Amino acid sequence: MGGLTVVIGFMGAGKTTLARELAAARGVDHVDTDALLVQRFGRSIEEVFDAEGEPAFRAAEEEVVLALLDSRPPGRDPVVSLGGGSVLSERVRRALGDHTTVLLDVPLDLAWERAAGRNRPLARDRDAFAALHAERHALYEALADAHLPQADPGLVVRADAALRALADAPPGTRMAWAHAASGEYPVFVGRGVLGMAVPGLPGRAFAVTDSAVGELHLASLRDLAGVIEIPPGEQHKTLQTAERVWHAMVEQGITRADHVVALGGGVVGDLAGFCASAYQRGLPVVQAPTTVVSQVDSAYGGKTGVDLPEAKNYVGAYHQPAAVLVDTQTLATLPPEEHAAGYAEVLKTALIAGGPLWDHIAAGGAVDDDTIFACARTKLAVVAADERDGGRRQVLNLGHTIGHALEVTLGYGTLRHGEAVGLGLLAALRLSGRTDLRALVAELLDAHGLPTTLPTAAVDPEAIVAATRLDKKRTSQARTPFVLVRAPGDVVHGQDVADDDVALAVRELAA
Ligand SMILES: NC(=O)c1ccc[n+]([C@@H]2O[C@H](COP(=O)([O-])OP(=O)(O)OC[C@H]3O[C@@H](n4cnc5c(N)ncnc54)[C@H](O)[C@@H]3O)[C@@H](O)[C@H]2O)c1
Repeated sequence: MGGLTVVIGFMGAGKTTLARELAAARGVDHVDTDALLVQRFGRSIEEVFDAEGEPAFRAAEEEVVLALLDSRPPGRDPVVSLGGGSVLSERVRRALGDHTTVLLDVPLDLAWERAAGRNRPLARDRDAFAALHAERHALYEALADAHLPQADPGLVVRADAALRALADAPPGTRMAWAHAASGEYPVFVGRGVLGMAVPGLPGRAFAVTDSAVGELHLASLRDLAGVIEIPPGEQHKTLQTAERVWHAMVEQGITRADHVVALGGGVVGDLAGFCASAYQRGLPVVQAPTTVVSQVDSAYGGKTGVDLPEAKNYVGAYHQPAAVLVDTQTLATLPPEEHAAGYAEVLKTALIAGGPLWDHIAAGGAVDDDTIFACARTKLAVVAADERDGGRRQVLNLGHTIGHALEVTLGYGTLRHGEAVGLGLLAALRLSGRTDLRALVAELLDAHGLPTTLPTAAVDPEAIVAATRLDKKRTSQARTPFVLVRAPGDVVHGQDVADDDVALAVRELAA
């Protein structure tokens, strides 16, 4: 990676404007390949399309783009924006490998709103436009080193340090820019990213980790000023452990001008994030997740907290990370049963996302780096739409209402969180009336060594129903709202479900 910064994306994404802004901020030139083509043909792209046809245009486009990507003009490297179809050329795709490729994501509806009615040759028919959007999306995704969401005009400038950091990151590292109302941050995903230099972090770095992870992966972090260790396991995600961490923070002289690196699974991430949110009223935390659960889910979105004996995650705070370092290499040391537990969160995320991620998982696809990155981006998109669980974010609770109730009722540690979520997914699919999907998900859980029935028959469904009433989603005396699945990619929150139906869905798990 390195070379030029090249902005790609679908028509209507705003590539030209974004590249121009970035170039201005860097004090370099901006080159737009569509503009070069207009110059070369001496007429508009629409006119070339209509007069000479798309193939003639694509041939000229390939030539112009390759000339630009292969040349390194003297002086400071320009920022380049490419026409939406340039990446159809295999030679262009190959040439992009030497550069930092930035994808500006644009949802279909917004792209259509911007492109339609402007005499764009490929934006004359809504259905054809939608098909092209889906088809091209896969191409863009495969090429992108960095993903930027649609946001305010200053976003690319604020993300620039993270874009530049990619040049020195381990080969193959990808970055997604997380954007939520209360904060934004880079998410770096790759092999060896624990050792990369993250731009913009204040002061000294202090790691919080559990003793098992510390022994295996602490040495990968660079320039630590201190380390605080907690014992591993959900049973230590408590206020008592948090208090011990706060005391250790005082002892080590940590100040608000420093930052914490939470190295570990979801327990460390939630607890260290919570400690960071409250210590001296808040210091930055970098999430460095090392389990599948945390890499696909818990490290993003800023929810932190600890359990109470009465209920899970009952005390906590929203505290967005300053950065997330997802080193997929750390998963090599993760025990098989933890991989399995993480698979339940992957399934949940794939059901929420639908599309290519669901297709991959439903076909029995492996949880590879691409899957982890896709899950991360799914969660980031949901959180961007609703940071504080007011609405859409509740879909992330799919399978968790009954999952959490099982954990509480059976006693923390009896079921792993992921195992409980897998069972919760089955119950949620039953409540959704999706027998077919329930069967497929049960098959996938089973194939990954996850339970599809409760470990003990001695479970009282009424006790589980009672425990769902303690779910934090319940805000009045009404029943706890459920998240249900209409279809993969079409998941709805806030659904009212009768207690009897919940009991039935739980009883089915005991069978
Ligand atoms: N904040 C959120 O949005 C959110 C979302 C989902 C889950 N969670 C929380 O996450 C927690 C579960 O996280 P988890 O499943 O990661 O559990 P965990 O943090 O307890 O980790 C599981 C076990 O794996 C070990 N481990 C971690 N990384 C390892 C590695 N690379 N190699 C070897 N061993 C390793 C740990 O020491 C631990 O024993 C729950 O408390 C849950 O509530 C939070």
